[in-house]
Amino acid sequence: MSANTQALAYLVSAVLFIFALKGLTHPRTARRGNFLGMAGMAIAIIATLMGANISSYGFIVAGVAAGAVIGSVVAFRVQMTAMPQLVAALHSFVGMAAVLVALGTFINKRAAGELNGVLMGELSAGIIIGAITFTGSVIAFGKLQGILSGAPVKFNGQHALNAVLGLATLVLGVHFALTGSISSLVLMTLLAFVIGVTLIIPIGGADMPVIVSMLNSYSGWAAAATGFTLHNNLLIIVGALVGFSGAILSYIMCKAMNRSIINVVFGGFGSGDGGGDSGAGLAAQKGVKSAAVEDAVYWMEDANKVIIIPGYGMAVAQAQHSLKEMMQLLEARNVEVKFAVHPVAGRMPGHMNVLLAEADIPYENVLEMDDINPEFPSCDVALVVGANDVVNPAAKTDPSSPIYGMPILEAAKARQVFFLKRSMRPGYSGVDNLLFYQDNCSLVFGDAKDTIEGMVNALKGAGH
Ligand code: TAP
Repeated sequence: MSANTQALAYLVSAVLFIFALKGLTHPRTARRGNFLGMAGMAIAIIATLMGANISSYGFIVAGVAAGAVIGSVVAFRVQMTAMPQLVAALHSFVGMAAVLVALGTFINKRAAGELNGVLMGELSAGIIIGAITFTGSVIAFGKLQGILSGAPVKFNGQHALNAVLGLATLVLGVHFALTGSISSLVLMTLLAFVIGVTLIIPIGGADMPVIVSMLNSYSGWAAAATGFTLHNNLLIIVGALVGFSGAILSYIMCKAMNRSIINVVFGGFGSGDGGGDSGAGLAAQKGVKSAAVEDAVYWMEDANKVIIIPGYGMAVAQAQHSLKEMMQLLEARNVEVKFAVHPVAGRMPGHMNVLLAEADIPYENVLEMDDINPEFPSCDVALVVGANDVVNPAAKTDPSSPIYGMPILEAAKARQVFFLKRSMRPGYSGVDNLLFYQDNCSLVFGDAKDTIEGMVNALKGAGH
């Protein structure tokens, strides 16, 4: 394939990637977006393989085959709740690939006597960003998978240490670019690996999704740097797309939590493990009402409008399919059923939308926070299914609360609120939920799926 044809193919891929991102902005067009992205990637791979630079296909075919097998097995096996850590693991590969490509390029160009300052500057950038992305993503994976504690690991002088490490790495990078010194290269690489650890280890579990998105952005910049090294325009474009979209997503998440990215990176917020265990006994002690499945069904059967608020607990319990059945049974009784989705409900952007779509719940029934909030005062029952922080009125009323200022779903304004959860444990932020103590609120204890199945049975008449 001539260089011109390849450039044209890359251009087509780049356009397809941009349309893919556009498609991914709405659940209705997400499937088409994914398809366009896959088509763009197929064209990019074919055009690259047919390029003049490829001397032999043996290693490439072996690598692609091994990657395809491992990737397929992992994708089929992964639980929806484990998706954030899978994404973190994949980012670590991008980071490591950037480091290896840069080191490989250095070795080749050095042997050919083709090193120059600009190239070595690019290599420094690729290695530093790639190495930070690699170890940072490995730590994020460990925290999300529960291999490492979700609690922020903090010690005195942490920020100063990071600043010194960052500065030293930059100085070594510049020194390497100017002199080609191998010891600077090695030291810079090692320090960048260390920074990935020291940067992510102090971050609390609750902020991990933002960090994964930030690392996604880093992995994009690492790919872009590799694109400069390899003189590959498509890699530069795609890297920039990933870099910017990851950064924008981090910003959107921070806005939805009313936090700044600085606060996320330096704040050490949330333990990720929730608070102490406690059940209905403690609920009574604290003046919280608990209700039986039948009580909630009694209210819902008679309601005109029920708004369901799914959260992380729905994902854990995999309650979405039972919820669909309950929705149909209520609709058959002329009850209007809507789902209210908070932008940071769950543990990753779009987490709830994906699960509700998986259960074939119609998009019309699923509303975003700003659209559904005005409907709570006119709704009879708000059914909170494994959500917590996203309905906590403390975010509006308690300036001393760590989640103060975070926009919330105003479930508290419904005539009656039923909270489906297993215990009195707080949400991910570790903050007690003021809604529990409100007169119009009762907790229905139990696993969300079991509880909803109980409701479905009661609605079918089996419980009567
Ligand atoms: P959370 O506040 O984490 O609350 C989830 C609730 O689900 C918990 O109170 C838990 O109580 C309950 N639960 C867990 N497993 C359950 C099960 N099997 N059955 C029934 N209930 C179960 O969830 P949320 O309201 O979705 O809020 C998301 C949190 O994550 C926010 O703090 C948000 O800031 C943070 N966060 C999210 C994102 C994104 S992008 N989604 C990004 C950054 C941060 P029990 O243990 O008592 O059952």
